[in-house]
Amino acid sequence: MPRKFFVGGNWKCNGTQASIKELCNSLNKGDSVESSPVEVVCAPPAIYAQYAREHLRKDFQIGLQNCWIGKGGAYTGEIAADMIKDMNFHWVILGHSERRHIPELHESDDTIAKKVEYAQSVGLKVIACIGETLEEREAGRTQEVNERQLAAIAGKVKDWNGIVIAYEPVWAIGTGKVATPEQAQEVHSFLRTWLRNNVSAQVAENTRIIYGGSVNGKNCAELAKQSDIDGFLVGGASLKPEFLDIVGSFR
Ligand code: G3H
Repeated sequence: MPRKFFVGGNWKCNGTQASIKELCNSLNKGDSVESSPVEVVCAPPAIYAQYAREHLRKDFQIGLQNCWIGKGGAYTGEIAADMIKDMNFHWVILGHSERRHIPELHESDDTIAKKVEYAQSVGLKVIACIGETLEEREAGRTQEVNERQLAAIAGKVKDWNGIVIAYEPVWAIGTGKVATPEQAQEVHSFLRTWLRNNVSAQVAENTRIIYGGSVNGKNCAELAKQSDIDGFLVGGASLKPEFLDIVGSFR
């Protein structure tokens, strides 16, 4: 069975009730994806998740951008995976490079792996992000870094049907400097081979590996043609009507 194309919209820490309503209204105008070969998940800031769900078309799912490492309790300001599940949201983004690299957050491979394990244990599906910095790429460490980050996550995954791997080179995020289709395909192919060699041929064949980093309505079609690119995780352009062009780019 072919891998179902996957498009995530990471709204990051953006929006107000007014802007989210306006965005939802414009996204609602697109064709339904209900019985099409694309799965769409939008991830608003947590406080707006329910609000977005009330305003967004039902064939677009709503996910969260992060969760706590384990069960809830005395962890001021955190949101537990159990709560996300309890509110009937099914997806969470984990390991985003902003959570790895912003100094005030600085999540480690180990923290991210624990979050993936716990989120899966309560039945959430995970968009797990990995990717190298510019410095790492220029030092020829792209494969080593992505392999290390993927291995940490893979070691904790119990349900490979419930995970999407997002390759997001940090140098391409929010910079307008998108990876070329060849650069992205090269890493995606490397990641799939890693899954084949270290998990199983079936997992390698079935797991969706999506690309993120300055994807927009213009560059998505060429990227989508690459054999190992199974969709996108979109930041800036997910806040604009052109997100619908990206959703449609699997055609
Ligand atoms: O999660 C999304 C990525 O960080 C990409 O963001 O599309 O604004 O470059 P961007």
